[in-house]
Amino acid sequence: VALPDEHKFQARIDAEEKIEPKDWMPEGYRKNLIRQMSQHAHSEVVGEQPEGNWITRAPSLERKAILLAKVQDEAGHGLYLYSAAETLGATRDEMIEALHEGKAKYASIFNYPSLTWADIGAIGWLVDSAAIVNQVSLQNTSYGPYARAMIRICKEESFHQRQGYHIMMTLMDGSDEQKAMAQDAINRWWWPAMMMFGPHDGESAHSAQSMKWKIKRRSNDDLRQQWVDQAVQQAHAIGLEVPDDDLTWNEERGHYDFGPIDWDEFNRVIAGDGPCNRQRLAHHKKAHDDGAWVREAMSAYDAKRRAKSSA
Ligand code: ACO
Repeated sequence: VALPDEHKFQARIDAEEKIEPKDWMPEGYRKNLIRQMSQHAHSEVVGEQPEGNWITRAPSLERKAILLAKVQDEAGHGLYLYSAAETLGATRDEMIEALHEGKAKYASIFNYPSLTWADIGAIGWLVDSAAIVNQVSLQNTSYGPYARAMIRICKEESFHQRQGYHIMMTLMDGSDEQKAMAQDAINRWWWPAMMMFGPHDGESAHSAQSMKWKIKRRSNDDLRQQWVDQAVQQAHAIGLEVPDDDLTWNEERGHYDFGPIDWDEFNRVIAGDGPCNRQRLAHHKKAHDDGAWVREAMSAYDAKRRAKSSA
């Protein structure tokens, strides 16, 4: 039975009011948001790894500077999202611990390896465009700090997406080997990118409640379809083939129909058994441990400064 407070809360949501940190909210709303926002933050941070892998091997100084800036942006998105999640009462330590213990997920896509320079193009183009399609819808999420974070993050993601597509365009304008490298990258990244949107709506555990609370504004399948429609056209525009034999334009629906997604693979990857899960988590843990002295030094400095100012 919904309590009077919950009725009032739902009425505010229905009226498109933003919920702010000090407002009353149902415990389930708070928990669901901490879950989604912390997983979103973890994705941004773990997502630095496949791209960071290529910073030292970028093919020119210009590409290196761009990639460095992009990876740094992703770190910033992570910090921004952790801070937004902290406004709900979760601590940074708790969130990181949940990641390290395998209790909190991060986007499945970042468990695939970046094997060639073309993968950096494919990640920027396909992965960041999938992230944008999802995050544009989240600009209207009901929790104020999350919605505001999304507005800023989407601006930067647009630049990331363009730099990725530009890498693919350049390769498709190059030698036969370069074209083959670009095609190989889309072959390997297409299906994992499709999985970024999560399970089909009928299988999505959190969707119904999240849509009611307007934490989510559009369904997993709806966002996936929008992404397919735009990515297919972008692929064809530069001469890339989409690795899906069932892909056909459906005149009646006004959308592309596509083949079945391998949900066994998806479930394996989110359960921790993808090609790079162990490597990604081990790397994150090591970086976190190696950075302990910085956190300790900052706390010690802060304590000293406070002691001085109160003396
Ligand atoms: N990778 C990893 N886990 C996933 C993925 C995915 N691609 N899709 C769904 N899941 C997980 C969910 O987190 C959930 O697990 P949990 O109960 O342990 O938290 C489970 O699968 C069931 O899925 P849903 O009920 O559909 O989950 P939800 O309603 O949260 O929808 C979605 C998933 C669409 C990813 C949503 O959480 C979301 O929009 N998150 C914010 C965006 C985001 O995280 N983007 C990160 C990727 S891109 C980037 O940051 C660069």
